[in-house]
Amino acid sequence: LSGKNTEEKDDRINKTIDKDVSKVVHNFNVEDLGSKVAFCRCWKSKKFPYCDGSHGLHNRMTGDNVGPLIIIKKA
Ligand code: FES
Repeated sequence: LSGKNTEEKDDRINKTIDKDVSKVVHNFNVEDLGSKVAFCRCWKSKKFPYCDGSHGLHNRMTGDNVGPLIIIKKA
C-alpha cells in the first residue's frame, strides 16, 4: 500500500458482516424504531446492526471500551 492509505487489510474493523458488499449501510425510518433501540458499534454482533451484547466479550478480550449507540424515544 502507498500514499495516504497505509492501513493493512488485517486492520479492517468489519471481520464478518455482509462481506459481499462494498459498503455496509442500514437505513431506518425513525418512526419504526419503537421506544428504545441499541445499534452495534463494535461490529461483533450476531444481530448486526443491532447490539446483542457481544461488545462485552470483545472488551474483555482486547481491553477495548466500545459499546452501542442507544436511541430512546421521549415518553
Ligand atoms: Fe456491538 Fe454491542 S454488540 S456494540
